[in-house]
Amino acid sequence: MIGTRLTDMFGLSAPVVLAPMGAVSGGLLAAAVSNAGGLGMVGGGYGDAPWLERELALVRNSTRKCWGVGLITWAADDAIVEQVLAARPDAVMLSFGDPRRFGRLVNAAGCRLICQVQDREGAQLALEAGADLIVAQGTEAGGHGGERATLPLVPAIVDLVAPIPVIAAGGIVDGRGLAAALMLGAHGALMGTRFYATPQALAPAAAKRRLMVAQAEATVRTRVFDQVRGYSWPTRHTGRALRNDFVARWHGRERELQQALEPQRSAYQAAAANGDCDKTVVWAGEGVDLITDVEDAGALVARIAREAEQFLMFGSHLVRRDRAG
Ligand SMILES: Cc1cc2nc3c(=O)[nH]c(=O)nc-3n(C[C@H](O)[C@H](O)[C@H](O)COP(=O)(O)O)c2cc1C
Repeated sequence: MIGTRLTDMFGLSAPVVLAPMGAVSGGLLAAAVSNAGGLGMVGGGYGDAPWLERELALVRNSTRKCWGVGLITWAADDAIVEQVLAARPDAVMLSFGDPRRFGRLVNAAGCRLICQVQDREGAQLALEAGADLIVAQGTEAGGHGGERATLPLVPAIVDLVAPIPVIAAGGIVDGRGLAAALMLGAHGALMGTRFYATPQALAPAAAKRRLMVAQAEATVRTRVFDQVRGYSWPTRHTGRALRNDFVARWHGRERELQQALEPQRSAYQAAAANGDCDKTVVWAGEGVDLITDVEDAGALVARIAREAEQFLMFGSHLVRRDRAG
């Protein structure tokens, strides 16, 4: 078993955190991850109160282990944070925006505060917010994020925020990635794209099938899906998604999309209702290369932890003590 400050903090048997993917990481997926020894996080996204009420009840009723909830900081308000805290999660994760607005509220509820950051400036705000854990998210990540790559970002944030423990995110989908993250000084890995391709994820089967066959070259960071859906994301954050017909038509032509917004929005909503992955977003990170199946979330946690353990043990065999030859 791998033990880190993350596993100690939540009594985990694997240093694996489910990313709170908005509307995808529902209560059953979060519970499956927690029951398997990881930390399950419900994806509260933009703060849909009825959705949260249903999914928080599900996670509460489906696990006795620690679990958490994630919210998009710039879209959140006190009311939604209070609703989440009333469900008594063990952790609240805030991403994208200034977490200082809600830090005190979360801490006062006796709940651990996790902040996901994309750069050093974000890490500084997370410290000021009173974060118990900081997720360093590289640009390889699926969904929204920033510009810095995981490999140099993680150790830079580890050094900057010490002694606060860091979790690595962005492009990690297997035991090799987890072992590498631990070697960079992280105390665990947070994964989204890999858990998207599980039966428990709340996503159309067609989207999961696309993840199984997609290559990382087919992903792109873009704003066009936020634009058509009408979300006012801060300009520093784009979202990594699979290229599809919608991307081919509008990425790089955002001004034209703005002019055609009304009809395009109606068409987008209709396509979304039909689960049409050519015309609507499938968020995915660069780790898609390594995803070839839809795997049970609990089995995934156990497999990734087992693989990482083997890689860490193998790593020590690379060290040669005699210098001869
Ligand atoms: C489908 C999907 C939805 C996501 N939604 C959110 C979200 O609502 N809030 C959030 O903080 N991060 C979200 N993320 C980003 C994750 O928190 C995380 O940083 C990312 O998944 C890590 O990279 P990976 O996808 O390569 O594992 C999302 C990611 C994906 C793939």
